[in-house]
Amino acid sequence: MRQDFGALGVLGVLAVDLFLRRNDELLNIVNLTKEYPTPRGPLPILNDISLKFQRGDAVAIMGPSGSGKSTLLYILGALETPTSGIVTLDGQNPSQLDEKSLALFRNQKIGFVFQDHCLLPQCSVMENVLTPTLIANSDKNYTGRAKALLAQVSLSARSDHRPAELSGGEKQRVAIARALIREPVLVLCDEPTGNLDRHSAENVASLLMDLHKHRQTILIVVTHSAELAAKFPVRYELIERQLKLI
Ligand SMILES: Nc1ncnc2c1ncn2[C@@H]1O[C@H](COP(=O)(O)OP(=O)(O)OP(=O)(O)O)[C@@H](O)[C@H]1O
Ligand SMILES: [Mg+2]
Repeated sequence: MRQDFGALGVLGVLAVDLFLRRNDELLNIVNLTKEYPTPRGPLPILNDISLKFQRGDAVAIMGPSGSGKSTLLYILGALETPTSGIVTLDGQNPSQLDEKSLALFRNQKIGFVFQDHCLLPQCSVMENVLTPTLIANSDKNYTGRAKALLAQVSLSARSDHRPAELSGGEKQRVAIARALIREPVLVLCDEPTGNLDRHSAENVASLLMDLHKHRQTILIVVTHSAELAAKFPVRYELIERQLKLI
């Protein structure tokens, strides 16, 4: 009897998975729940979140510190796994991929801009932008595209510089160029203007919106900045473990 329930459970998951694959939405989040195990028991962070995103969608996510914004972004970016629920991007469920396929999936489909940019200090600006192409499974030469992206983020003159020689805003612009080099379907930014002065923050925010306008990606930005959030047509607050429209 217990085995029958197990088989039904597996069939149920497969049915949901098939349904998601047929759906037009590019990013599908279904009943996503996340708990972190702690010595004092599970710590609930996200509870039963369901949402769909299509190409061209741009949303901002706000919310108090510790509410789970980065956790959510890491799950959407396939850097963290859900406790339960399913996330699919472009018809693929990263939880079902082996390590190598997962690395390729992240690399091809997702551009991630971290709060502290995470540039490689020993590499030049150009090399940093090209990093995601190093494991690319093709002979395609990305140098021309990297040059074009660096021009778009107004850093052509700095392509030989090391990150230590750049300002905070410039580093963040390199991180944005790096996130876009493989033409991902999903661009995730975790407080991209968090460490910047007002002028640089405005500059990075306008750039993100401009770049998004010309590419049909899904752009999801976590921010504490009301000014940055105001640039987005759709805004959510992560509160009480749920996403609420604001
Ligand atoms: N690996 C972990 N193990 C246990 N708890 C964790 C772990 N990672 C994060 N947390 C907890 O999960 C909660 C959500 O963290 P998260 O980093 O997602 O918050 P946040 O909304 O991004 O906050 P902030 O605005 O300060 O960046 C926090 O209470 C944090 O302490
Ligand atoms: Mg965070």
